[in-house]
Amino acid sequence: MAGQERYRELVDTLNRWAHAYYVDDSPAVPDAEYDRLYRELEALEAANPELVSADSPTQRVGGAAVTAFESVRHRVPLMSMGDIFNDEELRDFDRRISEATHSANTEYCAEPKLDGLACSLIYRKGVLVQAATRGDGQTGENITANARTIKAIPLRLEGNFPEYLDVRGEVFMPRDGFEKWNERARENGGKVFANPRNAAAGSLRQLDPKITAKRPLTFNAYYVGEYSGGELPDTQYARLQALKAMGLPVNPNVKVVYGAQGLNEFYQDILGRRSGLNYDIDGVVLKVNSLKTQEDMGFTAKNPRWAIAYKFPPEEMMTKLLDVEFQVGRTGAITPVARLKPVYVGGATVSNATLHNEDEIRRLGLMVGDIVVVRRAGDVIPQVSGVVKERRDPAAVRPVVFPKICPECGSKIERLKGEAVARCTGGLVCPAQLREGVLHFVSRDAMDIEGFGDRIVEELVSSKKVKSIADLYRLSCDDLASLMLDPGSEERKPRYLGQVTAKKLLASIEKSRQVPMNRFIYALGIREVGVSTALTLARHFKTFDELMRADLNALMNLPDVGVVVAEHIQDFFREKHNLEIIGELLSQGDLFSAGITLLPVAQASEQNAQNSPLTGRTYVITGTLDSMDRNAAKNRLTALGAKVSGSVSKKTYAVICGSDPGSKFTKAQELGVRIIYEEEFLKSLGELESQSGGAD
Ligand code: IVH
Repeated sequence: MAGQERYRELVDTLNRWAHAYYVDDSPAVPDAEYDRLYRELEALEAANPELVSADSPTQRVGGAAVTAFESVRHRVPLMSMGDIFNDEELRDFDRRISEATHSANTEYCAEPKLDGLACSLIYRKGVLVQAATRGDGQTGENITANARTIKAIPLRLEGNFPEYLDVRGEVFMPRDGFEKWNERARENGGKVFANPRNAAAGSLRQLDPKITAKRPLTFNAYYVGEYSGGELPDTQYARLQALKAMGLPVNPNVKVVYGAQGLNEFYQDILGRRSGLNYDIDGVVLKVNSLKTQEDMGFTAKNPRWAIAYKFPPEEMMTKLLDVEFQVGRTGAITPVARLKPVYVGGATVSNATLHNEDEIRRLGLMVGDIVVVRRAGDVIPQVSGVVKERRDPAAVRPVVFPKICPECGSKIERLKGEAVARCTGGLVCPAQLREGVLHFVSRDAMDIEGFGDRIVEELVSSKKVKSIADLYRLSCDDLASLMLDPGSEERKPRYLGQVTAKKLLASIEKSRQVPMNRFIYALGIREVGVSTALTLARHFKTFDELMRADLNALMNLPDVGVVVAEHIQDFFREKHNLEIIGELLSQGDLFSAGITLLPVAQASEQNAQNSPLTGRTYVITGTLDSMDRNAAKNRLTALGAKVSGSVSKKTYAVICGSDPGSKFTKAQELGVRIIYEEEFLKSLGELESQSGGAD
């Protein structure tokens, strides 16, 4: 029957595309194409309900809510694992294994320890029939309906699989998804999570699968609990590869290593890359690779004897909140900042952390003097993620008072209805807003005026030499040379910027007079107009005038421009003061104008040759990259203006590191040259390429 054939084809194609998207991170087709087939599938199912198959992607959207989870007894319990914390304990572990196997240099499978929730997935004849949480290890909760909504979990296995398979793995929320989720929740009063682990737990234990379906959860398989009716390889590593071939996502950083030294190197390597990963890990899991040895060694009452978790230093720590201060941003947004008793967390000493906004302070129930939980994970700015209420001494704390007037200019602070952020109404009267506005204007993705750091801009604003961004173009060499960088003291003479630096700054200002229109739009700092929206605007509106005159509809018709952004754009161009400044920046032939010439976007990429994001940086590549060959990596880097060299020196900007890196890696470590791993490399490459309008 033709309908049935088409049905299978649709289900299989959509599942394949979803796998490419959610598991391999490399979309096979544009979203619109996926949506088109998905709608066809929906229509076919509506007309022929008898066709609906358990592995249809429509079955992921979430079935009916339940009032409680059923409990399930695990046929094979989900074990926990012993922890170790240092190299000595690591060597003890390896020694115990060597004694049991009567051999030195044991082969191990080393894996990142994912910080999410352990889960068992049961497949019968390749179809997902049950998902359960770990619970107490013996009995867990049946969360099948929720697991089905996680796109990385295949509903049907591919290729060769045993008839019965109990796969164990971790459900977790990637960091980017977590950050995005919390950001939105803070804006519209939704549920804010303390960390990705809590987020994953809270999401997976939702009684309504439709809620789980909206959360950005994913899954990595790491162990086979039980199987029958088929064969599986006899090492842990090969099993993981077999699971991968069945369509189950497996962590890419899993590796075979030998002996205590191999284990230690793996630990160090993953620890060094931890902050660049898009998911939280709290250590590495080290497993004897041979299944035969695993069986021979067996389990203690609680733990396998053949595996251990080597824990990392934590990314969350407790410390005291000393004070809360309020910072004023470019758009006047007031951000409360926690001043903390310095604490070592996530690989750095943290003494400041963001508190986001007033509601966040209320949500946390925070008081000055409290003991708080500070989270610093990856490159995300440190945050206060919780308050340890039990440790509060009521006599020693005081409430956080949100200011009514701007700490920098004394103007009223206003919080508009429906907005999470309070803003200073001082506009350009406010030195903080001007300072941030100038810093944004000169920044690399904007006008890219080199040399203007915080200190210089601060001084230019406070000495009133710069009262608007247009004033930058009126600065004389003396204006700059006479800037005081250090007021000095009794022993030290005051320090000024000087002629040499002043001339350099003037030259970079001069260079910025010719700028692609998209960069100029971005530089203006219109609310919510980032690099890519600016590019969209510049591509669509042929002249800047056209953009200024665009009506709401014309703006909203553009991709990525919703009503909020469109309104921000209109508001910006209605503001008299903004128009004056734009006039000063752009009007040609006017004695007082800055004389900026806008280049069309088409020319922008030619201009990029001299002005591209990686100009002046030298990279070195070492090891094997999984995603592309070295030449491709080299070409993509040079297209962005970088140089690629064969040897590492102090001048090297960074070393791109694939698997099995060579001596260049060690050299980079010795010289303290930055090391960028493949995952981070791909991510920044993608971002830079899309920003420089790559394909144009
Ligand atoms: S293996 C018998 N591998 O660590 C050993 N566990 O086990 C079965 N975990 O809550 C577990 N990453 O959720 C294994 N690569 C990994 C893991 C891992 C994280 C978690 C697991 C469990 C805890 C202790």
